[in-house]
Amino acid sequence: MKGPKGVFVCQECGYESAKWMGKCPACASWNRFAEEVRHGAAMVKASSRRSASRRGLASASASSAAGQAAAMPVPVGQVVSGDEERLITGIGEFDRVLGGGVVAGSVALIGGDPGIGKSTILLQVSASVARRIGPVLYVTGEESVRQVGLRAARLDAVAERLLVLAETDIVSIVDRIQTVCPALVVIDSIQTMDDPGLESSPGSVGQVRECTARLMRVAKEEGTPVFLVGHVTKSGAIAGPKVLEHIVDTVLYFEGESTHAHRIIRAVKNRYGSTDEVGMFAMTDAGLEQVENPSETLLSERPGGAAGSVVVASVEGTRPLLVEVQSLVARSAMGTPRRTTTGVDYNRTAIIIAVLDRRGGFAIGMEDIYVNVAGGVTLSEPAADLGIAAAIVSSFRGVPASSGTVVFGEVGLAGELRAVSRADLRVAEAQRLGFERCVLPRHNLKNMARRPGGVEIIGAASVREALDAVFAGVNT
Ligand SMILES: Nc1ncnc2c1ncn2[C@@H]1O[C@H](COP(=O)(O)OP(=O)(O)OP(=O)(O)O)[C@@H](O)[C@H]1O
Ligand SMILES: [Mg+2]
Repeated sequence: MKGPKGVFVCQECGYESAKWMGKCPACASWNRFAEEVRHGAAMVKASSRRSASRRGLASASASSAAGQAAAMPVPVGQVVSGDEERLITGIGEFDRVLGGGVVAGSVALIGGDPGIGKSTILLQVSASVARRIGPVLYVTGEESVRQVGLRAARLDAVAERLLVLAETDIVSIVDRIQTVCPALVVIDSIQTMDDPGLESSPGSVGQVRECTARLMRVAKEEGTPVFLVGHVTKSGAIAGPKVLEHIVDTVLYFEGESTHAHRIIRAVKNRYGSTDEVGMFAMTDAGLEQVENPSETLLSERPGGAAGSVVVASVEGTRPLLVEVQSLVARSAMGTPRRTTTGVDYNRTAIIIAVLDRRGGFAIGMEDIYVNVAGGVTLSEPAADLGIAAAIVSSFRGVPASSGTVVFGEVGLAGELRAVSRADLRVAEAQRLGFERCVLPRHNLKNMARRPGGVEIIGAASVREALDAVFAGVNT
């Protein structure tokens, strides 16, 4: 075996270097390099291994050395698939994002901005599991037991088998997990956890990685699912190492504007399910409530007959979602016009503006243009393009879109309207909510399996044509 070898690791981003550096070449932060000692390929820090054996706990490399049988290859056909044991939390929207419940022995990381509601949702999930299935261990490193208790009372999350543990020492937490044998473990947050065998402080790359590795191990051994709360840095990444996202089985992100009630939980990585499901919630005094009919909720405040407001049929995962896109176009007081977007991509919007200006014959190149998606929702798919275009034109001309109209379609640089996925699903949702007309790409018409009755479907080949349909019958 090779002797110990020091590696300098940036505590901000996990960048590794053979020598100490003042400034990290990867993330440009200063004075964040700390030395970690590794033995060959074992990747276990010298100090942590020493402390693990002192405490009688076998670390990964030590346990394989201690006579555990080496793994045998298995024909892949003999592996039973598709029926991994799942624990249903009872909070439907949460189960949906996970792909139909939490897989036994899996580790999920939940990230999101401060105050967005990570502790809230996990406390609600914990109470639900404790009531339905068995004991839940909620470990808090950030709050006192009393604070968690008060929150539980406010959220109606008091359950007999919901156990709160205020602890940051990972070794004793693993101990508790082994003695309590809970149905679910929540760690709030991974950045506060501390492996006493390491010299670096909690939240550092080494600490976060080592604590997560220990929790992974106990999760797999006991078959207990573990949820980790992870803080998010200014740049939106989960604080500490990117490596954390690679280690865990599932990564969920909590999105939403803290000034809005709506919250969306999105899976960005899932080893046991699709990553395009989202869960919708609304923040209330009594905690996060599931939004079972998101389209209806999102459209409930829509002003009728106002210029600059258009309804877009978008799809989040497998779920159709009708959202209102708003725009305001105003004469610019400055030489350079202002463009501001919330909820839609800035660059995408800039392209749509250029297309409208050059191909659509709308002289908006010198106007200030604001685009906003109502309800704090973010639209990331190109199918929203036509909605953005229609909202801008509606405001520019001071003319509302004809009532009861829903639009979707991707706008190309030549001003053409391009087909998008899942057209039937979008039309069906529009019909369900009582809309009368759908303006969509002509190319989508030929692949539409079923055409729901009651909705007039208008296929357009270009943005120009689509806009004619959107404003048809409205006095200009
Ligand atoms: N007493 C209260 N009444 C109503 N709503 C509250 C109350 N206390 C907190 N909230 C809501 O809960 C939100 C905080 O949620 P939570 O503590 O779950 O966030 P978090 O993501 O865990 O934050 P952090 O990163 O700081 O731990 C607040 O932004 C607020 O909207
Ligand atoms: Mg919290």
